[in-house]
Amino acid sequence: MTTEPIRPGRTDVSEHQPIDLGALPRDFAWGTATSAYQIEGAVDEDGRSPSIWDTFAHAPGNTAGGDHGDTACDHYHRWREDVALMRDLGTNAYRFSVAWPRVVPGGDGPANPKGLDFYDQLTDALLAAGIEPSVTLYHWDLPQALQDRGGWPERATAEHFAAYAAQVAERLGDRVTQWTTLNEPLCSAWIGHLEGKMAPGLTDLTAAVRASYHLLLGHGLAAQAIRAAAPGARVGIVNNLSTVEPASGSEADLAAARRMDGHVNRWWLDPVHGRGFPADMREVYGVDLPERPGDLTTIAAPLDWLGLNYYFPQYVTDDPDGPAPRARQIDRPAVARTGMDWEVDANGIETLLMRLTEEYGARRLHVTENGSSYPDAVAPDGSVTDPERTAYLHAHLAACARAAHRGAPLAGYYAWSLLDNFEWAYGYDKRFGLVHVDFASQLRTVKASGRHYASVIEAHRAAHDEGR
Ligand code: IFM
Repeated sequence: MTTEPIRPGRTDVSEHQPIDLGALPRDFAWGTATSAYQIEGAVDEDGRSPSIWDTFAHAPGNTAGGDHGDTACDHYHRWREDVALMRDLGTNAYRFSVAWPRVVPGGDGPANPKGLDFYDQLTDALLAAGIEPSVTLYHWDLPQALQDRGGWPERATAEHFAAYAAQVAERLGDRVTQWTTLNEPLCSAWIGHLEGKMAPGLTDLTAAVRASYHLLLGHGLAAQAIRAAAPGARVGIVNNLSTVEPASGSEADLAAARRMDGHVNRWWLDPVHGRGFPADMREVYGVDLPERPGDLTTIAAPLDWLGLNYYFPQYVTDDPDGPAPRARQIDRPAVARTGMDWEVDANGIETLLMRLTEEYGARRLHVTENGSSYPDAVAPDGSVTDPERTAYLHAHLAACARAAHRGAPLAGYYAWSLLDNFEWAYGYDKRFGLVHVDFASQLRTVKASGRHYASVIEAHRAAHDEGR
């Protein structure tokens, strides 16, 4: 870890457009986020079994440079140091995921005490540092044992997920109140089962639609299980949403934008809000849903809060011969892009927060992920100055505050990510961290963007203290 102390306020917040910090409540959750497979490493320690991501990443050609999560950030051994980093940044919340194959190595059946012990210790350390733990139960690392039995296209996986959720909630529920069932089920279903670019690497529309259905059913069943095991739990689901605009005013592009909106936004939002699966998209997919009576009520379990992961806007054109949803994202010329080649548009986060508030009636929102990857250079003195990430962070925080000012019930923001980590199929070259990780030495160095985040957090506290 870098030995230099973090000095909040070292980066002058006033260099950027103002953030209406007064619009964010005093008890705002200032967090960072990570996920288990992206940071933990220790893939075969203390009884952990392989997940679909171990399998996928180790199959030739699936990830950049053949990268995998075997060691990642070695967080399984360095979590104390990482909690200290969060505390030094001034954050008061941390969103992490529990690795299902660490806790229930068989996918179903008995829990592995050592797996639970790890998250138990982490939870205690966070609380001791004044950082609220926010637990995600599924961030894509399905036990391979369940994939071998059919994975998410099978209904039993949803039931096993609820049983595993209960096991975690029984152990942590006396200290953790903030629970997420699923992270970005869109990626599990569409990218993992339709596009084949994530685990389990399928390109099968029927499997993808069935997976999407059972993921949401699993969400509803897990919500019940968490509440039964941990009364007082606040349960939510996290979706990665995009603003979707047509590339032109043509009828075909307008219809394509509507389909893409259905594919990335409404398919995931409507069912959990009691509206069922969108009829237009059922027609687009043309796949029978594995519905049983009562499922829609289960899926629409009351939400205590809703999580938004936002990265980029989408401009789409008609793609009549393409795969579902027969709409394709276009690259607009002359717009700023991140190292992922994703368009930068901070207004999108404000638009989506307002949509969730006005169209879906959200009563409590968290931005559960937002961040950017850029190719960071480490200076000879070991420092990392990342002006583009700093500007991205600041502009998105300002947009969040605008939404809060307009009435969005925004309760927290979790920067993605605390650490540079394993960026799935892109491997380790894509760095999203507020903290730089040298993967050879595991040295952690807070980037300028991390210092900037600390200064915003500090300014928010000062603003509320002045107004007291
Ligand atoms: O790294 C991912 C994360 O696992 C899920 N949301 C998007 C991030 C950046 O791609």
